[in-house]
Amino acid sequence: VSSASPRHLKSMLDVNHQELTALVDNAAKFKANLKAGVNAREYHQKLLGKLVAMLFSKRSTRTRVSTEGAAAFFGAQPMFLGKDDIQLGVNESIYDTTKVISSMVSCIFARVNKHSEILELCKHSDVPIINALCDKYHPLQAIADILAIKEAFGTTQGLKLTWIGDANNVINDLAIAALKSGISVSVVTPSDISFDSDIKQEAEKLAEASGLKFETLHDPISALNSANIVVTDTWISMGEEAQKQAKLKQFAGFQISQEMIKKSNIASNWKFMHCLPRHPEEVADDVFYSDNSIVFPEAENRLYAAISVLDAFVVNKGKII
Ligand code: CP
Ligand code: NVA
Repeated sequence: VSSASPRHLKSMLDVNHQELTALVDNAAKFKANLKAGVNAREYHQKLLGKLVAMLFSKRSTRTRVSTEGAAAFFGAQPMFLGKDDIQLGVNESIYDTTKVISSMVSCIFARVNKHSEILELCKHSDVPIINALCDKYHPLQAIADILAIKEAFGTTQGLKLTWIGDANNVINDLAIAALKSGISVSVVTPSDISFDSDIKQEAEKLAEASGLKFETLHDPISALNSANIVVTDTWISMGEEAQKQAKLKQFAGFQISQEMIKKSNIASNWKFMHCLPRHPEEVADDVFYSDNSIVFPEAENRLYAAISVLDAFVVNKGKII
């Protein structure tokens, strides 16, 4: 474990355009290589004998399997530390926990509640902290999503992505990542839910610098105009369970369905995306399981995104390009 301050991945704001492209393209290369069975033994030596911790205070299917899979790919032992497994939060502070764990492992993938917990981990950790979802960001999801878009369209440049859903962690990072990849973004939320103002400012700056469009709207049908990609996520994020009934009411009319699609002027080559887990209220089966849906390749890409990030931030010590 080195004592120099490591590079962390807190959000898509931590990587520039070129670095994001490299993370996505490397994920694609790892995917192709892994499927062809090429060089697996060589990669397996990179972190052989090391430990990688998954410090998760919320449940997870994709992020857990993909980060543990990424650690195993490089020969490291993944160590899943769920909220009922360790002393954190009950008997021990985040500071003491970070000092101890980071003295023994090569990297910490952290899934937490508040973004401030990610910041605190970064401040005290001797090893890279990779944000595995907090209330504000979900960078591993955004990398996998850009890869899924590139695979579906052959390019990311010149596309339009429309988000119809909550203003949440997934769209915060996806909007930044899309704009850094040449994709215009429309975000549609119910009229009483607004997109985070700091992310909006950042998105507007990125759009202006790249000649792209970024807009926040409240009408799904008009926002689908010329969209190539339509995306949503749960309306009730982890930690918001108490607001479920109120939020279901707020999102009346927001279910993505063939009926909604037919009312719009969406591009003929449109694709549907969702980070999963999915609930039928936000998207009907006739879209979710349609030929336009790329949700399962998108989910599969989480593994290659995690491998690419572990390669860049741990094997290559934060040097992405
Ligand atoms: N998309 C995603 O992060 O899924 P999990 O919560 O199952 O990890
Ligand atoms: N917005 C969701 C994403 C789950 C992967 C949540 O935070 O629960």
